[in-house]
Formats: sequence, structure tokens, C-alpha cells
Amino acid sequence: MSEWRSIIRSTGGYLPERIMTNDDMSKIVDTSDEWIQARTGIKQRHIAADGELTSDLATAAARQALSNAGIAAADVDLIILATTTPDQTFPATATAVQAKLETGAGAAFDVQAVCSGFLFAMATADSMLKNGLFKTALVIGAETFTRLLDWSDRGTCVLFGDGAGAVVMTREAADTSGDRGILAHHIQTDGTKSDLLYVDGGASSTGTIGHVRMQGNQVFRHAVTNISSAIDVVLKETGTHVDEIDWFVPHQANQRILSGVAKKMKLDENKVVSTVSQHGNTSAASIPLALHTAVSDGRIKPGQLILSEAMGGGFSWGASLFRL
Ligand code: UT7
Repeated sequence: MSEWRSIIRSTGGYLPERIMTNDDMSKIVDTSDEWIQARTGIKQRHIAADGELTSDLATAAARQALSNAGIAAADVDLIILATTTPDQTFPATATAVQAKLETGAGAAFDVQAVCSGFLFAMATADSMLKNGLFKTALVIGAETFTRLLDWSDRGTCVLFGDGAGAVVMTREAADTSGDRGILAHHIQTDGTKSDLLYVDGGASSTGTIGHVRMQGNQVFRHAVTNISSAIDVVLKETGTHVDEIDWFVPHQANQRILSGVAKKMKLDENKVVSTVSQHGNTSAASIPLALHTAVSDGRIKPGQLILSEAMGGGFSWGASLFRL
């Protein structure tokens, strides 16, 4: 067993100022507030301003997380940014965050696992902290996802929004951590399902950034099954019973998926943190934003046991169990 534990010390979040409601959306495509709410639970989403970059959103969320942890930017030696909407094809957007925060020495890189990106980034940070490679990590999920949307495709454009969430993770001696920290995670992909949710562009294919394409009902079908199996893995690995979970902080794709997973796993619906009505699906930002929301409003308290999950393009999916 590693001598180190990685502990989540704080959260931060940022949402762009502009809000787009379902009624606003119905002026662009053939849809309605009634349909969107009934099928997804979404009421509104935030849209980044012209010139506002993913790195700006990420930096704002990271600053807040650092401030909440009482940790100086100069002490950060690792930045992992989960994003599907980088500022540029290269360098990694995490390096722009590093420059904006003036963190100094250390490493910064991006992780690309779409809506599951934050869990993949957290698992990567956890491994690197536990291996003693770094001491203080910023793990961020940030997206200007609406820039990938085809605004004439009602099957996708109503679902997504922009935003960023961040956590500060530090390594602590395992024997004094008081059972806090990342307890288990499971991440998985299945590249044979990539045609069900993808972007039809890229540097090496079309030379354009492309637009999101999704067979929503197919993705939906796989989501509940894959997410539930990942949750099973982390619960079994840690010998945790579902009743011991204090809060369920899922990826916010669709209220029906959140409820479907909760029902399948016999999780109390009152323990589910849901922000999908206010934020829409912010891809890699959705888990840290939801976590930050529930920590900030006092629902989630230090010492509580949190279960998180996600599923997205790739397919990619995963689950994480941690004690704050
Ligand atoms: O985070 C990444 C992972 N992504 C997801 O988890 C998304 C998973 N999928 C979903 O959330 C749902 O599949 C959607 C919300 C995207 C769609 O809901 P659905 O219940 O699966 O609807 P559907 O795609 O089967 O479409 C049903 C009907 C269709 O009309 P017809 O063919 O029955 O006449 C669609 O054309 O709803 C129509 N439709 C819409 N109607 C009004 C699709 N989008 C819209 C819309 N407004 N925005």
C-alpha cells in the first residue's frame, strides 16, 4: 500500500455570465421548454462570452479552489485539466492556466476523456500524488462546449453548456489521513462505440474543429449500464455498502440518467446532487461544478463519503469514491 493518500482540500467553480434559457433555445431550433425539461431536466445553460477561453474559465475556478484551500498558486506543482474544448490544438490548455496563475515550477497537461474527463484527471492526479511525484495538484474540468455545437441540430444543441470546476488535491501521509481522500476509482473506455458520440472534425482528419454528433438514445441506453458497473467496482473494491454513501455527485448529462442510475444502484434520491437544470451538460466541468455547488451551499461537509460517476464519448466512463 502507498504511504501517501491524495486528499481533496477544496473546490472552486466558475460559470460564464450569460444564461440561455430553453425559451431562448426555442427561438433557434424547433424545440420547447416543455420537451427539454421533460426529456432532460435542463432549464437553462451558461454560454461563454466572445473571447472568453476555456483557460479563462479554468483559471477562475482554480483561483477560487486555491483561495478556499488557503494554498498559494506558487505551491502548486501539478495541473491536470480535463477538457474537450482546448484554447488551441497545442499547447495544452493547462499550460495557459499555469501561466495565468503563475504557479511556477511543475507540470501541466490536458486529459481528454470528454464527459468522463474529470474522473480520468482525478485518477491520474491520484496516481501521481500517491507515487510521490508531486505534492499539490489542481485538477480542473473546464469547457466552452457550446463552441462545438451545431446550432441547427436540436438533438444536441439543447443539451450542453459552458463552465469550469476545480479541486485542489494534496498528498498526505496515509496513516494520518483519517480515512480522507480518494479511496477508489475505476476508469474504462470502449473505442468500438465511438461513432455514437463524437465530433466530426479534428486536426489530423478534416483540419477543422467539427461539431458534436450523437445518437442520443443509444448513448442513453449504454450510460446507465456502464455507470452502474463502474460504481459496482469501486463499492466492491472498498467493501462499501451503498447506504454508507453520504452524497452521490454524478456527471450531469440528463436528469433521467441520474435518476435511472440512483434507482438501479438503490441510492437514496435525496442524496443525489443535481445541477443539470441550471447548468445543462458541461462535459468535463459538470462533476467538479456539482461538487462545488453542494460544498458551497453546505450540503456536503468535510468527512463525508462521496460517490461520483460519468459516461461520455469514446465511450469513456468511470466512478470514484472519496471522503472529503
Ligand atoms: O454526457 C455525454 C453523454 N450524453 C448523454 O448522456 C446523452 C444521452 N442521451 C439523452 O440524454 C437523450 O437520448 C436525449 C435527451 C438526447 C434525447 O431524448 P430521447 O428520449 O432519447 O429522445 P430521442 O432521441 O429518442 O427522440 C425522440 C423524439 C424524436 O422525434 P420522433 O422521431 O419521435 O418524431 C426527436 O426528433 O424527440 C425529437 N427530438 C426533439 N424534440 C424537441 C429530439 N430532440 C428534440 C428537441 N426538441 N430538442
